[in-house]
Amino acid sequence: MFPVINPTQSKAWQDLQAHYNEIKQTDIKSLFAQDADRYNKLHVQFDDILFDYSKNIVSAKTLELLQRLAVDSKVKQAIDAMFSGEKINQTEGRSVLHIALRNFSKTPIKVDGTDVMPSVKKVLRKIKTFTDKVHSGELRGYTGKRIKYIVNIGIGGSDLGPFMVTEALKPYTVDGIEAFFVSNVDGTHIAETLKKVKPERTLFLIASKTFTTQETMTNAHTARNWFLKKAKDEAHIAKHFVALSTNETEVVKFGIDKKNMFEFWDWVGGRYSLWSAIGLSIALTIGYKNFEDLLKGAHHTDKHFSTAPAEKNIPVLMALVGLWYTNFFGSQTEAILPYDQYLHRFAAYFQQGNMESNGKYVDRSGNPVSYATGPVIWGEPGTNGQHAFYQLIHQGTVLIPCDFIAPAQTHNPIGDHHDKLLSNFFAQTEALMNGKTAEEVKAELTKQGLGKKEIEKLLPFKVFTGNRPTNSILVKKITPFTLGQLIALYEHKIFVQGVIWNIFSFDQWGVELGKQLANKILPELADKSIITSHDASTNALINAYKKWR
Ligand code: F6P
Repeated sequence: MFPVINPTQSKAWQDLQAHYNEIKQTDIKSLFAQDADRYNKLHVQFDDILFDYSKNIVSAKTLELLQRLAVDSKVKQAIDAMFSGEKINQTEGRSVLHIALRNFSKTPIKVDGTDVMPSVKKVLRKIKTFTDKVHSGELRGYTGKRIKYIVNIGIGGSDLGPFMVTEALKPYTVDGIEAFFVSNVDGTHIAETLKKVKPERTLFLIASKTFTTQETMTNAHTARNWFLKKAKDEAHIAKHFVALSTNETEVVKFGIDKKNMFEFWDWVGGRYSLWSAIGLSIALTIGYKNFEDLLKGAHHTDKHFSTAPAEKNIPVLMALVGLWYTNFFGSQTEAILPYDQYLHRFAAYFQQGNMESNGKYVDRSGNPVSYATGPVIWGEPGTNGQHAFYQLIHQGTVLIPCDFIAPAQTHNPIGDHHDKLLSNFFAQTEALMNGKTAEEVKAELTKQGLGKKEIEKLLPFKVFTGNRPTNSILVKKITPFTLGQLIALYEHKIFVQGVIWNIFSFDQWGVELGKQLANKILPELADKSIITSHDASTNALINAYKKWR
């Protein structure tokens, strides 16, 4: 059974609190100085992924206590519960089985006694057949022209995942295919996209688990109207619109034939759905084989996660190290910094993945927690971030643990670009750890010919305290397989943290509230009447909008 344990009651948590007071002033660089073998001990090589967590404010004792916390929180049992299909998403009464979507083992995975694998394989076969037919030209648009444009209409998990992956794997794009992703209900998003595509060569994928999401359905209807304006005949819809959903009734109501529906299931969380039919845009963009390699990479991580000992288990280590800062150093945020332009949506993807999963203040017994849970996740690719927000990471008053991610091999080996990019990666993690002492600053300024007085004046501003923690994730090359591995590592990190925080990571009731409130206000915007049903500020804003629009 999924454990319900208040982490603060565990001895390990209390020991960690005491230990924090011992170690908080310790320099990471002194930890390196004390132990020549530190890097060897604090990194894990997972095939073509190197996870280095040695540049953290952790000693052997810290790690031992964190591991004890994982044991006390029954992390291993929770992993087994998820993998065996237990209904660990208790507030929705659902299993959590994104791991089944990429299960290439022969092991059945059961929900309510039924193996889900035959259905998973069936949908994968349907994706393959459909993708191959689009690419070969067997499936064409209503005028007989080949499909060139893929427009995925979805939001949240039905957008961020496939968009991030198709961007990350752009070098694998199938010739003649262009993918677009429309998510925002702001009409600008669909309008600007439709300017770039031709109806007779466009395939619209309406991606929505529920098929009721306001943004997606609005954009889908707009796309349908736009298409029909040109195609005239509703019979042509079948060649240009497919649905990726769990909700057959709504799909059919929209006017999409059941045959053109790619199904998934309620045990696939929206933010974990890129591996499901929601990944059709990925398969269509990079080809089925590459989509399958992505799934295989994730499956490889699943095996690592479910079998590797905790001290060598990357998601467990990522979770524990992150939690150490969140709960004991009081850091409320983490940055994800990919040194790879193709990974430019990676942080945005895990912003949803992490914050929608672990942004919870109520524990699994329904009581408010007394400790911090999910951190604020954000990030931008290096080196752009360096010229934007790194100042605060280096010298601000907030502790921001960072994940640096980079491929050793670039898809674009032009001159020395990649060496320059990676030298920035290495330099940043080193500088964040080492900082710059007063002595070093003095020596530097003296060398520049500055006098004693000037040096004294400048000194406080030029000193960097350092000791800013980082994880480094070096990937040999970003391929479909390694990207699958990488994404799954982060997914499981989030899971482990949710287990230890004793929260439900797989619901998102907070987002539902916003949806309900917007639906309540929408009818009030229908006419010119003055609105008085809200607070003074909301009334005034609505009325000003109605006057100006
Ligand atoms: O943002 C809330 C949410 O429910 C996400 O979890 C989900 O990814 C997104 O909305 C989209 O939902 P759907 O796929 O049902 O349109």
